[in-house]
Order: sequence, then structure tokens, then C-alpha cells
Amino acid sequence: MSEQQPLLPSAATTTPATTSSLRKRRIITVVAPLVLVAATVFVVLFGERRPKEPLALANYYLKTSPVIDGHIDLPILARSLVGNDINKLDLRSRAPGHVDIPRIREGQLGGFFWSVYTDCHAEQDGPDFLNPSYHVRDTLEQIDVALNLIDKYDDTFRFVKTADEAVAAIKAGRVASFLGIEGAHQLGNSLAVLRQYYTLGVRYATLTHSCNNAFADSGGFITPVNETWGGLSTFGQDLIKEMNRLGMLIDLSHVSDKTAEQAIELSRAPVMWSHSAARGLNNISRNVPDELLSKIGQGRKQLDGVVMVNFYPAFASKTPAEVDVAYIADEIEYIAGKTGRAHVGIGSDYDGIESVPKGLEDVSKYPHLFAELIRRGWSKHDLAGLAGGNIIRVLRGAEEVAHKLRKRAPSMAKYSKRHDLDPRPLP
Ligand SMILES: *[C@@H]1O[C@H](CO)[C@@H](O)[C@H](O)[C@H]1NC(C)=O
Ligand SMILES: *[C@@H]1O[C@H](CO)[C@@H](O)[C@H](O)[C@H]1NC(C)=O
Repeated sequence: MSEQQPLLPSAATTTPATTSSLRKRRIITVVAPLVLVAATVFVVLFGERRPKEPLALANYYLKTSPVIDGHIDLPILARSLVGNDINKLDLRSRAPGHVDIPRIREGQLGGFFWSVYTDCHAEQDGPDFLNPSYHVRDTLEQIDVALNLIDKYDDTFRFVKTADEAVAAIKAGRVASFLGIEGAHQLGNSLAVLRQYYTLGVRYATLTHSCNNAFADSGGFITPVNETWGGLSTFGQDLIKEMNRLGMLIDLSHVSDKTAEQAIELSRAPVMWSHSAARGLNNISRNVPDELLSKIGQGRKQLDGVVMVNFYPAFASKTPAEVDVAYIADEIEYIAGKTGRAHVGIGSDYDGIESVPKGLEDVSKYPHLFAELIRRGWSKHDLAGLAGGNIIRVLRGAEEVAHKLRKRAPSMAKYSKRHDLDPRPLP
């Protein structure tokens, strides 16, 4: 074992002190530089070297509190561009669309929900109501693509299923990768499929996409679609209960106002909007109305929730060409004004939108949005919540509810399939 080298020569190696005053002087001359060096080392290693300039400060904050985006459509891009053949998709160099590894690193994206999505069908008596089993196949293919991309680039991504796993992945420098399905039409009218998606790692389900399904009414797109159920069907009520029991987040983006109200009323767990804009800024049915926003963040546990803000200019504004970083910051502030800052997040919809705001062209640009909010006085704490803290809290809330429900009532929902919706019911 070698002796640790002193920072400075010790008093013992120099001429021995002869008088007490000399000794004091020596102590001062030896100790003072030691203290100075130690203090300097401490400041260099642990001191806050907070940049002043907003973009530099945003990047500094995002290093420890990176963005966890609620909705990125990379898997559907892989399907439409390369027919799910991920050998043909190189994420290490500039990829088509809004997402690749260099831009993820530049934007300090710490995690995201990989949307595993299939198209829905609008006809009310069409295949989405009648055993849409091909949705299950297509969803499994989207899950397969997502998991294989995560695996192909496992030095960048890490597949995660819990809030704790996400935090650990981020600490390890990986991009925490959750899965989410975008419409209950993807369940093939079976809660057994929901449970198996959960087993595969799916951690949110949007109740509808742009069409009604067997569980719930959609909010449509620009204008509402005609109601089928007046919100949730009875099967939809069972879906909510089963999602609570599993710990799968209920996503209210895309749903009708009645569906959202009823789901909030029924759910025992916090809810999310994975990628939504505010109707108060653009009166289209796809956006969240003020009345719903002001129900969130009211303190009752089941009204915890997070509205993750969509970047699509056509949702954000009647005049999409005006949408830029400042506009999206306005949108976040508008929503936070109704819900509180602890209930907003980022749900860009990258790779799923045809146009993007000026200055938020792809995943490399998140820091610019955070810089804009810094200029508007948002604190480090508020920004950490917006970036990822709020969605992690909401997920933890759903995990806790599931834990309690499974302890108390371990049985699953009373039936798992709507046989009357299935032309070929089980024997
Ligand atoms: C919606 O309902 C209205 C009034 O009943 C009807 O005229 C219209 O055709 C319906 N639209 C669709 C898409 O079914
Ligand atoms: C918003 O649009 C709906 C039609 O979709 C209309 O009924 C409503 O009056 C509009 N609200 C405002 C505030 O303009």
C-alpha cells in the first residue's frame, strides 16, 4: 500500500520550528494554501456553474432533468417508410422524419413513449366494432419494431416499464423507452389483449383514436364525430377498471369530452393526455377544453394528471403558419394557467405530424422551448416537472393504485371479451 501523496510538502519535511510564533506562521503558511486549494477543488467539482444565457441554462437544466416526451411516432414511420425492415433504418445518421440518435442527444431527450399505433376505421359498423383482430397483429408488429430498434441501438435506448426503471435508465445515460398504444380499437375488443399488451410493456392506452370504438367515443379531429355511446360504453367502464388494476395509464388525447369526463370520474389513478393542445387557443374538437383542464390539479388524488403539449401547428392555432417556439410556450403557459405547472408535459407528436413549429423542427430543439420559458421566469423546479418530472409522478401514482387494487381485489375484470361484437365468438 503506497502512502497518499500530500498536496503540499508537510511541515515535518521542512526545517523544524524553533519558536511558537514561527510555528504559528508556518501553520498559517501551510494551512492557508491548503484551504484555498481544497475550496477551489470543491467549487470545480461540485459548485453550480450556472450559465446565465437562457439557451445555455436550458441545456444545463436538461442535463439533470431531461425531456420525457409523451408521444413519438417513430414505429409508424418505420412501418410506412421501410415496411418495418429496421435494417433499412439508420438512426445513427440523419434519419427521415424528426428523430434520430444525433438529434436526440443534441436535444437532450431523456426518454419517450414510443407510440405503437394502427389506423382506426370510421364506419360505425365497420371492422373496429367487429372483432378487429388485424389491429392486434399490426400492433404486435409495431411493438416488435419498437423493441427491435431499442435493441439495435441499446447503447442509446433502454426499454423501461416503470417510473423507477426510467429514472435509472436516464441516470445511466440511456433514453428511457416506454410503449403506448393509441386507441382501444387496437385491443381487438378483448381485455385479455390489454393484459398481454401490459405484459409486453405497454404503459399507456389512449381510449380512442379519431374514430369511436367498442369502448368509447372519440373527439374526432377538427369537428366532433357523432356519438355511439355518449362517452364510455359499459365495456369501456370495464376497460378503465382493468387499466387501473394493471397500472396502465389512461390516455385521454383524442377522446370526446364526455369520454374524458367519465374516465376521470371513474378512474382511481391519475390520467394523462399524451399529446394534446388547448381548445381555448384553437376551437377544434381534438383539443382539450378549458372545463376539463380546470378539473386537473385540484388536489384530489384521482384528479392528478398531466397534459403533454402537442407541437402540431394545425392543432395549436387557427393560423398554423404563425406557430413557433414562442407560440408553443404560450400554449404551455395557457394550459398551466388552468392546471398548474405541475400538470404539464411535452407530447410533441414528432414523426406523426406533417408540419412542425418554427424553431421546434425536430427532437434536437427542445432546449429552445425551455430557454423561452426561462426568459418568462419559469424556475428550475417548474421546468424539471414540465420536462419529465410530472409524467413520472403521474406514472408512479398509477403504479401505486395498481399495487393497492391488486392486493385488495386480485381478480381481473368480470369478462374480457364482448362476444356480441365478435362474429366468431369463442365456443
Ligand atoms: C351524424 O348525425 C347526423 C344527424 O343525425 C347525420 O346527418 C350525419 O350523417 C351523421 N354523420 C355520420 C358521419 O354518421
Ligand atoms: C367551437 O366550435 C363548436 C363547433 O365545433 C361550436 O359549437 C362552439 O360554439 C365554438 N366555440 C367557440 C367559443 O367559438
